[in-house]
Amino acid sequence: MRKKVIAGNWKMNKVSSEAAQFVDDVVGKVPDSDQVEAIVCAPFLYLSSLVEKTKGTKVQIAAQNMHFEDNGAYTGEVSPVMLKDIGVSHVVLGHSERREYFAETDETVNKKTHAAFNHGLTPIVCVGETLEQREANETMSHVGSQVEEALRGLSDEQVTNTIIAYEPIWAIGTGKTASSEDANEVCAHIRQVIKKVTSEDIAEKVVIQYGGSVKPSNVDELLAQSDIDGALVGGASLEAESFLQLVEAGIK
Ligand code: 13P
Repeated sequence: MRKKVIAGNWKMNKVSSEAAQFVDDVVGKVPDSDQVEAIVCAPFLYLSSLVEKTKGTKVQIAAQNMHFEDNGAYTGEVSPVMLKDIGVSHVVLGHSERREYFAETDETVNKKTHAAFNHGLTPIVCVGETLEQREANETMSHVGSQVEEALRGLSDEQVTNTIIAYEPIWAIGTGKTASSEDANEVCAHIRQVIKKVTSEDIAEKVVIQYGGSVKPSNVDELLAQSDIDGALVGGASLEAESFLQLVEAGIK
């Protein structure tokens, strides 16, 4: 059975004292279970100190983005080499907010996915459709092509270790969650796409998260679905108590 992966994406929130307090509040309480992984996706500024604070605990620390080059003249950017050097384990790639506001494309997401693996980081690759695409019945083709492009050129082992986060854009921060059945249908489609580009065996191993207004009150139903293996959570991951409830839902 696939493990559940619960990742809290803080986005551009919290000052450093709040970040530290959150981690202090959760580290001792995250369940010691092989069934669930708990990841905190924090702003770059805090990654180093949060990695130190969580050493030897069940909490892993992720970046929310990175450049695909190892180093160079890219003012303001952070490289995979730097993230690996400070002990970050995961990196969120291609979040819809980066695609929308920061010109992220399928091509750069693919380059970043390769770069993550080249440096021993686990990518959490985000895909999802707009409301217009959903209404035009383009969800499956759009999400399918985002997945194919992101995985292009990866080895079977790398695909196996990629985490995909399906986040319908219309459900992010809006309070509107996709129904569990709708979310599962798209996650199952993503698994079919992975099967097409690799094999059934690999597709069955890939962790596929759902994201978009996930909260303690709806997480159980989402995680009970056949193809939803976790959650990428924004708003409800900002409070320690609520984040812990989401992680605990992963071992039910
Ligand atoms: P919300 O949980 O706030 O809807 O955000 C989802 C998200 O974008 C996580 O990456």
